[in-house]
Amino acid sequence: MKKIIGSWKKIILVILGIIVVGTLWFDLYMFSPSSLKELYNSERASETDEDDSLISVGFCQVGSESVWRTANTNSIQNNLTEENGFFLRFANARQKQENQIKTIREYISQKVDYIVLAPATEYGWETVLSEAKEAGIPVIIVDRMVEVKDQDLYTAFVGTNMYDEGRKAGEWLEEYCEEKNITQDLNIVILTGTEGSTAEIGRTKGFANVAKRHREWKILESRDGDFTTTKGKEIMEDYIKKYKNIDVVISQNDDMTFGVIEALDEAGITHGTNGRVKVISYDGSRQALRMLRDGYINADVECNPLQGEYIADIIKAHKNGEPIEKINYIEEKLFTIYNVNGYISSRTY
Ligand code: AHR
Repeated sequence: MKKIIGSWKKIILVILGIIVVGTLWFDLYMFSPSSLKELYNSERASETDEDDSLISVGFCQVGSESVWRTANTNSIQNNLTEENGFFLRFANARQKQENQIKTIREYISQKVDYIVLAPATEYGWETVLSEAKEAGIPVIIVDRMVEVKDQDLYTAFVGTNMYDEGRKAGEWLEEYCEEKNITQDLNIVILTGTEGSTAEIGRTKGFANVAKRHREWKILESRDGDFTTTKGKEIMEDYIKKYKNIDVVISQNDDMTFGVIEALDEAGITHGTNGRVKVISYDGSRQALRMLRDGYINADVECNPLQGEYIADIIKAHKNGEPIEKINYIEEKLFTIYNVNGYISSRTY
């Protein structure tokens, strides 16, 4: 009898042991820092990455902060597919450069054929890109630029001209004032995107270069809204409390603009075509184009996120030893109430 009780005890202890170890492993996987999970997922990916005919690509995305970013991710994932000859690994850096650097090192140790990097900010890439170069892995920079001394640290750039986008916003305001014969002082507030990103640097410089021709344009304040709706709304609420006579809001992406519009509406301040405050936005997402058509936004400078096809073509050409352009800008428009019709229904983002 004692023997039977003894072996039951052992069986129960073994079962308890399995439960404890299993729970610990589950917690570690589910609640561990995302990097561990991603590392686990990418290791699993490399186990299945047996097909040598596919080009293996490690894509390092900035984050998922905006509608634009989601469209950009989808475009790259939909073009770098197995049917199209690619094996794609993906990592979301949650807007942090240090996460991107860590991911690039993982891709290097996994010996991917190409690294595609959408850099969060322009500076701080020399070391890790030199490591990729030493490992013989070509790097394609997408969307935003990197500021490096040695231009051979990357193979090609595919994206939009952010400086031009800023210039277009300034020129629209210039033409608008001429058309409406506005000569008095204009009070302008700006919401910038993530500090140090090409989108922030280029759009700010491009606009400033037009603004310096106009002493009557008074830039009251410019603040970093990190390209998100929540921050856009918070900043606009502050601006409304601080400045009683805002004439123009420039918001460096549509997501922040959605927050700006909520804040203006809640404060009872009219905006857009027939409103008191003129609103200039960037990106050209479907929701923003609808607001523009309905008269709530005055101008929207397009930033085209559909870059996947270009990236796939450049990688294939490079792989085949064909000549490729180093800098590849994608075309984009400026939308106003006069030309927006016809673009909304076909918009996929
Ligand atoms: O780098 C492109 C910018 O980043 C887009 O304007 C913005 O929406 C995104 O988050």
